[in-house]
Amino acid sequence: MRRLVREVRPHAAQLVLPLFVHEDLDAPRPITSLPGVEQLPLSGVRAAVEAAAEAGIGGVMLFAIPSVRDAEGSAACESDGILNLAIAEAVAAAGDQVVVMADLCLDEFTDHGHCGVLDARGNVHNDATVLVYQRMALAQARAGAHVLGLSGMMDGQVAAIRDALDEEGFESVSLLAYAAKYASAFYGPFREAVDSQLQGDRRTYQMDPANRREGALEAALDEAEGADIVMVKPALPYLDVVADVAAQSSVPVAAYHVSGEYAQIEAAAANGWIDRRASHLEALTSMVRAGADIVVTYAALDLAAWLKEDA
Ligand code: PBG
Repeated sequence: MRRLVREVRPHAAQLVLPLFVHEDLDAPRPITSLPGVEQLPLSGVRAAVEAAAEAGIGGVMLFAIPSVRDAEGSAACESDGILNLAIAEAVAAAGDQVVVMADLCLDEFTDHGHCGVLDARGNVHNDATVLVYQRMALAQARAGAHVLGLSGMMDGQVAAIRDALDEEGFESVSLLAYAAKYASAFYGPFREAVDSQLQGDRRTYQMDPANRREGALEAALDEAEGADIVMVKPALPYLDVVADVAAQSSVPVAAYHVSGEYAQIEAAAANGWIDRRASHLEALTSMVRAGADIVVTYAALDLAAWLKEDA
């Protein structure tokens, strides 16, 4: 009876698995604060994408850690930059089985760790950053990315990147906008995953956790600028925002179950305090119930397997 009347049924096809690719590695390296997640060498991308396809997962989201960082994040725009090389590898492995998404942000590439370039006073300069994002978008599109994940939270980035892509004939490259991205404490383990250089915080460009209506506004603006998918991040602490955005949006809505959310489940489960499988499945169900069409999660492979067992 419960099976018959169930309201939401999460599916592997709506999951997106983040992948971390490190330019300096020749073998996978575990990320301590994200149990079960590794930084991969470029040579490991193919197998990771094939595993995602095998599991029936809908997409992968690529992040990359370059050997050399500078103030402008130059490696992000170079065709032989590690992220762009990883995109090409992933796209070749994905065929038409898995959607390849790439993180479009400068924080992995700058020596100061901010998501953009800085002005003379050391603040992130919105408009100068958007110009760099346009070049980064073109580099990612040329590498073959299917979807660009705009995670930098600069105003006007969606429209500017859409224009730059269309001008070069990349009309079919889609944009996933991190529309409502909050300045969250739950990104802690991710900063280890990308060897983050960040000093200070991102409160001049990421949102105040206290603001619910502003989350809906940011999503509406990004949709109007041409976003193909709008995302709320983190997920579980912001399900009210996910629900609001789902209610108002005509485009698909994604939720990012971020590193700190994943790590909480992993740490408690490792201590025997909660059931790992049931907790991850409940978290996923809650995000989908709130209105997420797509869920980005480090547990995607396990979730896909569990969903298959339960089907
Ligand atoms: C920044 C970015 C972050 C995450 C994804 N993209 C970190 C930040 O904003 O500091 C966090 C994801 C996670 O915690 O899992 N481009």
